[in-house]
Amino acid sequence: ETSGTGWGNAVTVSIEDGVAWVTMNRPDKRNAINPAIVREMTAVFDALEADDAAEVIVITGAGDAFSAGQDLKEYFRETESWPPHERDKLFAQNAAWQWRRTMFYRKPTIAAVNGWCFGGAFQILIGCDLAIASDDATFGLSEINWGIIPAGIVTKSVSMVMSQRDAMYYIMTGETFDGKQAAEMKLVNKSVPADQLRAEASKLAQTLRAKNPNVLRACKTAYHHVRQMGWEQSLDYLMAKSDQTTFRDKSRGAEKGMSQFIDEKKYRPGLGAYDK
Ligand code: ACO
Repeated sequence: ETSGTGWGNAVTVSIEDGVAWVTMNRPDKRNAINPAIVREMTAVFDALEADDAAEVIVITGAGDAFSAGQDLKEYFRETESWPPHERDKLFAQNAAWQWRRTMFYRKPTIAAVNGWCFGGAFQILIGCDLAIASDDATFGLSEINWGIIPAGIVTKSVSMVMSQRDAMYYIMTGETFDGKQAAEMKLVNKSVPADQLRAEASKLAQTLRAKNPNVLRACKTAYHHVRQMGWEQSLDYLMAKSDQTTFRDKSRGAEKGMSQFIDEKKYRPGLGAYDK
C-alpha cells in the first residue's frame, strides 16, 4: 500500500495489474467521510487521472466498513462554525468526488462494498459504474434514523437505480439490507462471499481493461446523458458521440475490430473483444 504525494493517510492507493485500489482508510471511524477524506479523494482522483498505470479504479474501505457515510461530527457538526463559503466549498468538493467524478471519470470505476455502507456512501456506490458487494455487507439509508432526509444527492441516486418500492421502503424505514439483497434488487451487480470480493472485483476490472478505453469512456458518459434526454435528442447525440469517439480514437479500434472479423476472420465480436 502506498500513500502518494498530495494526500495523507485517510485514503490509500495501491496499483496492481492496471487496477488502482483506492481505499478509504479510517477503519476506527468506519471510514466515515470527513473533510480529510474529501480532500484526499480529490487529490487521488487527480493523480490517477494522469497515471497510465491506473486503467480501472476500484473503491473500497479498510476494516469492516465500506463507509459509514458522512462523518456526523467532523463533516456536519464541526463545519457549522466554518465561514459559510468554506462549508459550501467542502460540500461541493464532496459532491464532486463522490458522484460527479466517479460517474464521469475518464476511467471505469467499480465499488467493492466490503462492509457497512450508509447514507452518503450510497453516492459513491451509485456514482461508480459497477458495484460488487460481499454477501454480508450491510447497507442502510439511515438518515431517517437521525432525523434528516437523504440529501446531498442520495435520494436522486437511489431513485436512478432502485425500484420505487425499494427506494421508498428503505428511505422511510431506515432498515438495513445485506449484500445478497442488494444484488437481488440490482443496487449492485452481484454479491459474493467476503473472501472472494477482491478476486471478483479484480476479475471484473480485468474484463474492462481488455476493452477500448476511449469507447468505454464514451459509453458511460452517453448512458448518463441519454437517460435525461428525449428519443430524438438521444439519437442525434449518440450518432454524434459515436463519430466523435471514432474520430478521436488514436488506436483506430473500430477499424481493427471490423478488419479482424471481416478480413482476417480472427474473432467473433458477439463473443469477445477484438485484439487491441
Ligand atoms: N460519523 C461519525 N463517526 C462515526 C460514524 C459517522 N457516520 N460512523 C461511525 N463513527 C464512529 C463512531 O462514533 C465511533 O467513534 P469512537 O470510537 O471515537 O467512539 C467509531 O466510528 C466506531 O463506531 P461504533 O458505532 O462503535 O461501531 P460499530 O461497529 O458498533 O457500528 C455502525 C458501526 C453501524 C456503522 C455505526 O457506527 C453507525 O451506526 N454509524 C452511523 C451510520 C450512519 O447513520 N451514517 C450516516 C448516514 S447519513 C449521511 O451520510 C448524510
